[in-house]
Amino acid sequence: MPNPTSNIPQHVAIIMDGNGRWAKARGLPRIMGHKKGAESLRSTLEACKKTGIRYLTIYAFSSENWKRPVIEVGDLMELLRTFLDKEISTLHKNGVKLRVIGDLSKLASDIHTQIKAAETLTSNNQDFNLTVALSYGARQEILQAMQKMATLVENGDIAINTIDEDTVSSLLYTHSIPDPDLLIRTAGEQRLSNFLLWQSAYTELYFTNVLWPDFSPEHLHEAIIEYSNRERRYGTTSE
Ligand code: IPE
Ligand code: IPE
Ligand code: MG
Repeated sequence: MPNPTSNIPQHVAIIMDGNGRWAKARGLPRIMGHKKGAESLRSTLEACKKTGIRYLTIYAFSSENWKRPVIEVGDLMELLRTFLDKEISTLHKNGVKLRVIGDLSKLASDIHTQIKAAETLTSNNQDFNLTVALSYGARQEILQAMQKMATLVENGDIAINTIDEDTVSSLLYTHSIPDPDLLIRTAGEQRLSNFLLWQSAYTELYFTNVLWPDFSPEHLHEAIIEYSNRERRYGTTSE
């Protein structure tokens, strides 16, 4: 396995795509792709920790994914229940702090309770930060931040001329998380699909044709090596 030596991203975000295509190629129901995808998540998380990455943010279910057939949504929610049930103690033991971001009001109340319990249990962990975007949409996130900001202004808690980029960041779900350095999307699609639109303003984008259930630590390392060879200019000139 290649060993990226320098310039490791602090924060990696992943759009885990291609579970359905992976299952279809094998004549299996889509849920089997999602189940195999959960295994990729486990190995990717381990590999991120070992590599020295501190933050992993994964797109697990978008606000638009509610439009999928009821059966698939139900299967995904069941997989989520199992994941929370089975994985939390291991995550906690490994020093992982879990956060879930998105419009959680749309989730079933038992899942909501499971999430809150998992977040509370892991809240003091400092070795690694796993953020799961669930029922998440960036436009909705920005919209709710604007509504909060309007309320703050209306109540006289902030003055309009003091609002800056940090104010906006502080009102997003990701307020205590640095912006992603590297965003990986699997399965060949080259779009953000409403993921972290504000936060990824200067993120390096990496697209691979590998389907998420086939994504391995080797693929992660390939992405990191490519990242470490890129020059992030932030609008300035090269030296
Ligand atoms: C990503 O895989 C997982 C979710 C969006 C929940 P898909 O289910 O989108 O897989 P494809 O794109 O149909 O192959
Ligand atoms: C994006 O994948 C959302 C997740 C990976 C959770 P989709 O498969 O839903 O995105 P589109 O529909 O191809 O844009
Ligand atoms: Mg997809």
